[in-house]
Amino acid sequence: MDVIVVKNDVEGGAKAADMIREAVKNGAKVFGLATGSTPVEMYKNLVASDVDFSKLTSVNLDEYVGLPADNEQSYHRFMQENLFDKKPFAKSYVPNGLATDADAETTRYNKIIADNPIDLQVLGLGRNGHIGFNEPGSPIDAETRKVPLTQSTIDANARFFDKEEDVPKYAYSMGIGSIMKSKQLVLMAWGEEKADAVKGMIEGPVTPDCPASILQKRDNVTVIIDEAAASKLS
Ligand code: F6R
Repeated sequence: MDVIVVKNDVEGGAKAADMIREAVKNGAKVFGLATGSTPVEMYKNLVASDVDFSKLTSVNLDEYVGLPADNEQSYHRFMQENLFDKKPFAKSYVPNGLATDADAETTRYNKIIADNPIDLQVLGLGRNGHIGFNEPGSPIDAETRKVPLTQSTIDANARFFDKEEDVPKYAYSMGIGSIMKSKQLVLMAWGEEKADAVKGMIEGPVTPDCPASILQKRDNVTVIIDEAAASKLS
């Protein structure tokens, strides 16, 4: 695991964007993408750059169950506004939050991932150590599935919704098994509220209690964290 400590998300987002541009130059065809507040600076940098995704493919990590693509809080909408409207890919895939047949939707999404093996996967980190929406206790070999969100994640995401009851309780998420198959991984984390999860991920035992700790088993992982997120590392 390569760990890069930066001053803040502005510096870290620029670094992550550089890594994406480098991967494009080196022939990467499929990018696994994340949403949430963490990658916003990275997307700003990409939008402002001359990178061209128009012949490439993106596959997003997750989507809230129950939210239509045009809902302000949906991850579809997030991706449109933060990246795709300005830097479109030839093909972009995000799970369908309105799918009611979870088996059919996860089978469909797993086929997409099998047909488009991910060259570089971007990850954020949950305060409880989740990656994608693979909450503590998630099986390490799982593919895409419908997952319940923990109270910690619902609380963390309530800041984006008018009322806590509006926060969806389930998501469709790539599983840890699918994430681990990508050739290269770049995980970012900012702020003190991520410091415990960062410590567990980097210095803790590899355990389902901290799903991101599984990344210790992989090569080709770069972790970009700011000083606050790094503050509990020994
Ligand atoms: C988002 C995702 C989640 C977030 C994590 C951190 O697609 O898969 O794992 O990366 O919840 O969220 P933020 O960045 O909002 O702190």
